[in-house]
Amino acid sequence: MRFSYFTLLAAATSVAASPLKNAKRSSSFEWFGASESGAEFGSGNIPGVYGTDYIFPSTSAIQTLIDDGMNIFRVTFLMERLVPTTMTGSFDTEYLSNLTNVVNYITEAGAHAILDPHNFGRYYGSIITSISDFQTFWENVAKKFASNSLVIFDTNNEYHDMDQTLVFDLNQAAIDGVRAAGATSQYIFVEGNSYTGAWTWTEYNDNLVNLTDPENKIVYEMHQYLDSDGSGTSSTCVSSTIGQERVESATQWLIDNNKVGVLGEFAGGVNTVCEEAIVGMLDYMEENSAVWKGALWWAAGPWWGSYIFSMEPPSGVAYTGMLSTLEPYFA
Ligand SMILES: *[C@@H]1O[C@H](CO)[C@@H](O)[C@H](O)[C@H]1NC(C)=O
Ligand SMILES: *[C@@H]1O[C@H](CO)[C@@H](O)[C@H](O)[C@H]1NC(C)=O
Repeated sequence: MRFSYFTLLAAATSVAASPLKNAKRSSSFEWFGASESGAEFGSGNIPGVYGTDYIFPSTSAIQTLIDDGMNIFRVTFLMERLVPTTMTGSFDTEYLSNLTNVVNYITEAGAHAILDPHNFGRYYGSIITSISDFQTFWENVAKKFASNSLVIFDTNNEYHDMDQTLVFDLNQAAIDGVRAAGATSQYIFVEGNSYTGAWTWTEYNDNLVNLTDPENKIVYEMHQYLDSDGSGTSSTCVSSTIGQERVESATQWLIDNNKVGVLGEFAGGVNTVCEEAIVGMLDYMEENSAVWKGALWWAAGPWWGSYIFSMEPPSGVAYTGMLSTLEPYFA
């Protein structure tokens, strides 16, 4: 998600949803879940104040989503809060401890927890250019989670407006750092340039086909919104077929290159056109579940208020209005 969170707290369209949830069935996806947002809020205030600028996700809300059937959560955080001095420097032990508590809660429940530095390929506002510093950052982080095979390392959220070779090199450095830490059992989610958009993946990110991992556990994380500019800032979807249309070329890329992907962020407004577009997209992805391992809604988290896509129980707009549409796709 690319825009400042506080500009996103727009009034939600309220559309009555059926209180009846669809009967659960298992899909052929391996994972279905949501981003757990909060620790990256207030990115204009570094380090910021806990409880004022940022918050950690609520474990009881996560438990509700687990009880509903979700089995993967992407835990967002800021690199500047985790390693405040330099990228290779020591951790803020309290921030690390709060982050670790959330991750451990999720994995002790048997779900996957994705560590997501929500940094857009930047540190203190500047594009990360030191490949070796970035590798050390990841080696240091992965050491803390090396024994937990339900953790997933997401190299960085939504690289954009960056040199394409740099995006490749940063992803490869993250993979190398994680493996050097002795974290060998975990999946690594790599992201691409241009906000890792599925709809533009083949245009920008073809070179990422050459990323290598000795453990062979790379998953290509793409994001896709269904509003006109693909930014995820409007509750209006382009059409009821836009979901499938926007992931088709990326799906073909995964097939052609014998890779696997995950839709790490997606959302649409609570209305009939978006619901049809989402169902069409997920049906298509499920037909191609040989290459799509799953999908994560953007987003849950305690501070979304009336945000158009809020998946936070018990009263988030999407939790009350969209969950029953998504449930048939749960793993
Ligand atoms: C960590 O969480 C506790 C509440 O559990 C809070 O008091 C503290 O300020 C947090 N620290 C950081 C650095 O996030
Ligand atoms: C991948 O690497 C091979 C071998 O170096 C190279 O020929 C090819 O052009 C690369 N693919 C892309 C898409 O960059």
